Amino acid sequence: MKKKWLFANWKMNGSLLANQALLESLMAAAPLDARASMVICPSFVYLPQVAQLTKNTAMGLGAQNVSEHGQGAYTGECSASMLKDVGVQFAIIGHSERRAYQNEENALLAAKVDAAVKNGLTAVLCVGETLEERDSGKMQAVLIAQIDAVLAGKTYSADQLVIAYEPRWAIGTGVSATSEMIQAAHVFLREHIATHDTSLAERISILYGGSVKASNAAGIFALADVDGGLIGGASLDAAEFSAIYKALLNPAG
Ligand code: PGA
Repeated sequence: MKKKWLFANWKMNGSLLANQALLESLMAAAPLDARASMVICPSFVYLPQVAQLTKNTAMGLGAQNVSEHGQGAYTGECSASMLKDVGVQFAIIGHSERRAYQNEENALLAAKVDAAVKNGLTAVLCVGETLEERDSGKMQAVLIAQIDAVLAGKTYSADQLVIAYEPRWAIGTGVSATSEMIQAAHVFLREHIATHDTSLAERISILYGGSVKASNAAGIFALADVDGGLIGGASLDAAEFSAIYKALLNPAG
């Protein structure tokens, strides 16, 4: 059995007050179940707050980025060991917004995955194509390059690396990929990972992200090769997010 995950990517949203209210509503609305893990990924400054508020719960804590460097003169950066120090267990790496706005490239992201894993974090690597790449038949080549950069010459376990397939055109747009597109991409990713490491391919969790909401979650999570979700906008609403979590536990309804 592959692990099932639901990640809340809060992006650059929240405040001390709003985070506390959201977490309290979420805990009341969605009692956690051992069959699926929930991980909250707030902005860096709120990691200690969320660590404190989730301390005696089964909720995990993730960062939205991590530096590829260990320490030193890298103004504005945050290292994997610092994240570990404040109780973080996961790091989202290569989110499409960082690929797009911070120009993060595959080689850099491979270094970030390496730094995260070396410091005991689980790396959540986001991969996905733009609409232009999909329409011009380049989707598979793009996914291959994104995966190869990270796996070439490295061995990771399914506890160290999780993949999130997030077609870039589906993020924050309200337009989710169709079930056929999602299933096909997840199968393709798993088969390609197997060309590097068959044991990892069998065990690794591949999540879907991109306009998942309460209304489409069950259909997406019922797909054979989808092991959970990375949720942006809908993770900021306790009722929506708890409904998505329940759909992950019970996708058939
Ligand atoms: P969205 O974002 O759910 O708002 O589309 C997903 C993501 O950014 O991971």
